[in-house]
Amino acid sequence: MGALLWDGRLRHILFPLLLLLRAPLLFSFGERTCPNSCRCEGKTVHCDSSGFLEVPENISVGCQGLSLRYNELHTLLPYQFAHLSQILWIYLDHNQISTIDSRAFQGVRRLKELILSSNRITSLHNSTFHGIPNLRSLDLSFNKLEILQPGQFHGLRKLQNLHLRSNGLSNIPIRVFLECRSLEFLDLGYNRIKALTRTTFLGLQRLMELHLEHNQFTRINFFLFPRLANLRSLYLQWNRIRVVNQGLPWIWYTLQKLDLSGNEIQTLDPAVFHCLPNLQVLNLESNKLSNVSQEAVSAWISLTSISLAGNMWDCGTGICPIVAWLRNFRGSKDTTMICSSPKYMQGEKIMEVTRNHAICEETDYVLTETPLPTLELTSEGTAEPTFAPTTSSPPMPPTNTLGPLSPFRPRPIPHPTFPGHMSKNPRDSPVRTRPTHIPPPEIEHMTLHKVVVQLGCSSSNPWWDESAAKRVRNQNKTSAPSFKSIT
Ligand SMILES: *[C@@H]1O[C@H](CO)[C@@H](O)[C@H](O)[C@H]1NC(C)=O
Ligand SMILES: *[C@@H]1O[C@H](CO)[C@@H](O)[C@H](O)[C@H]1NC(C)=O
Ligand SMILES: *[C@@H]1O[C@H](CO)[C@@H](O)[C@H](O)[C@H]1NC(C)=O
Ligand SMILES: *[C@@H]1O[C@H](CO)[C@@H](O)[C@H](O)[C@H]1NC(C)=O
Repeated sequence: MGALLWDGRLRHILFPLLLLLRAPLLFSFGERTCPNSCRCEGKTVHCDSSGFLEVPENISVGCQGLSLRYNELHTLLPYQFAHLSQILWIYLDHNQISTIDSRAFQGVRRLKELILSSNRITSLHNSTFHGIPNLRSLDLSFNKLEILQPGQFHGLRKLQNLHLRSNGLSNIPIRVFLECRSLEFLDLGYNRIKALTRTTFLGLQRLMELHLEHNQFTRINFFLFPRLANLRSLYLQWNRIRVVNQGLPWIWYTLQKLDLSGNEIQTLDPAVFHCLPNLQVLNLESNKLSNVSQEAVSAWISLTSISLAGNMWDCGTGICPIVAWLRNFRGSKDTTMICSSPKYMQGEKIMEVTRNHAICEETDYVLTETPLPTLELTSEGTAEPTFAPTTSSPPMPPTNTLGPLSPFRPRPIPHPTFPGHMSKNPRDSPVRTRPTHIPPPEIEHMTLHKVVVQLGCSSSNPWWDESAAKRVRNQNKTSAPSFKSIT
């Protein structure tokens, strides 16, 4: 004890002295002894592509950036970088690293950027990153991670970018991102994730971009995302999604870009789009859509770009809502839409065929000539005069043929199954009117379930605030009942 105290006091006294003495020494030391095979510039040390089997010695202690890309490192040892207490970034991508000691990043508290991509990491200790709370960017993509630890990212309150693309993750622990409150970019693409829970994304209130593409989802319920109150872009392409629905009554104001291409969607649920009033870019390419309902296209109120090619369009009158919508749409569109059925129209371009065969003529007529449907051909669902006519000629798709289309096979839509909480008796929990804080998720499940049943997409949820309510009331698009009606 006495020795410790003495030691502490001595250090206290001697430390500034030592610094003074060592500073000029360090400077020249850093200049002179750049590790063999490395290039040292100012306070950065570049040791790329030099066949290093371990972290080289003689790296100046004042080093602020160390690049060891494209080497043969296999292991990161305890306190591997602890002598580099000033270090801000370490690049270790394209090595053979499979083992990382849980204390490998102890002693480098200033570290802001750590790149470990393209290695052979299969697992990480719970506390591997606990000693580097100032981390802004962490790249673990292109590894072999199959699991994440529950506390994997705990304490990373300043982390802004997290790359986990291209690993073998099938499961994301609940609340694993809870403390990542600065995270703006999260890439979980190219993994094997089949399902997420509502607590997966807890804490990510700043997240702007979420990548979930190339996973194994078969359905997506937007009730997964209400915590992501700042999200702009959601990437869900190339999963196996058959059903997209809106299980919660909330409006997602921030979402601007939604990529659902390369899935197996047959039907678009208008409720999903009613809840995305600011959606601008929608990609539905390469799905199994045969039509889009009038209600769904009516909900596309702020789109500036849409992609619809590679679906299984049925060129009967069911195609008319989307055709009429496209004729009036001035944004960017990929209109290479080809009829899959009926047989005699297979391979024809929808916009041409509907015009040449006058398939949607009565709609045009209603829209442009007279407010009343007077033709004998009126059919339900196509004669709604919802669209303002434009005088400009309709845009024709560029000639561009797709490969042979497989015949349209209608399949039953599987019954979605949701996490067990939903089956609780909603009467067990009273509907909370205006919570001032976010209640624990278990309570939300029951509370919101009751609201879902009564309202569909509307304004009543715990994330709701008065200004949001006002916006919806002014918006007046979905005629959602106001929250008061159920209290
Ligand atoms: C480290 O520096 C010493 C002295 O300058 C030198 O002899 C040695 O080769 C260096 N080691 C490496 C790995 O660069
Ligand atoms: C992992 O870390 C978290 C946060 O530090 C801690 O709460 C949890 O107990 C740890 N889990 C294990 C299995 O060590
Ligand atoms: C639209 O597509 C769905 C799904 O394939 C189908 O069940 C429905 O009958 C179609 N509606 C029209 C009007 O063609
Ligand atoms: C909502 O729309 C209806 C019909 O268009 C209109 O009569 C009503 O005043 C609108 N309400 C608000 C709050 O804008």
